[in-house]
Amino acid sequence: MKKQLALLIVSGVLANAGGFNPSMQGYIDSLKVEAKKSNNSFADFNAKRGELIFTSKHIGKRGREISCASCHGANLSLSSQNAFTNKSIEPLSPRTNPKRLTNVQDVQKWLKRNFNDVYKREGTPQEKGDVLYYIKSK
Ligand code: HEC
Repeated sequence: MKKQLALLIVSGVLANAGGFNPSMQGYIDSLKVEAKKSNNSFADFNAKRGELIFTSKHIGKRGREISCASCHGANLSLSSQNAFTNKSIEPLSPRTNPKRLTNVQDVQKWLKRNFNDVYKREGTPQEKGDVLYYIKSK
């Protein structure tokens, strides 16, 4: 019995390796419900679409042409520099920086603020999910 329990726990941890923690998964699931509401053919988020959202440049904050990568860098495993303040930013990759994408409040706060910086509007639920899948894949 004890052995079975240990096995269950181990397989649970392994199954979650590379996945989101329960509260983040809850957030992702709620974004999916919202995305489905505005797009009937929506099936799942997509890291490739997220990459485009992350790397494409737009006239953003203070009229400057920037992308998400302008502050977070092109290589998410490395530290980067804020394009406006020059302050150093820790790597966004959850693989290199395990604190990333673990706290729903932080993620919501920064997605809202950062979409406004780059796109001058809040991201749609689908855009947020796509970009989170992209960051998660890095
Ligand atoms: C003007 C600079 C800047 C831009 C542009 C920017 N970010 Fe950020 N981002 C930050 C800062 C500063 C933080 C908070 C400090 C930190 O967490 O290191 C942050 C934090 C985050 C976080 C929180 C991650 C976590 O779990 O801790 C996410 C997600 C994120 N950014 C995604 C994005 C996305 C997506 C875009 C493009 C739409 C973007 N950022 C554009 C500066 C920026």
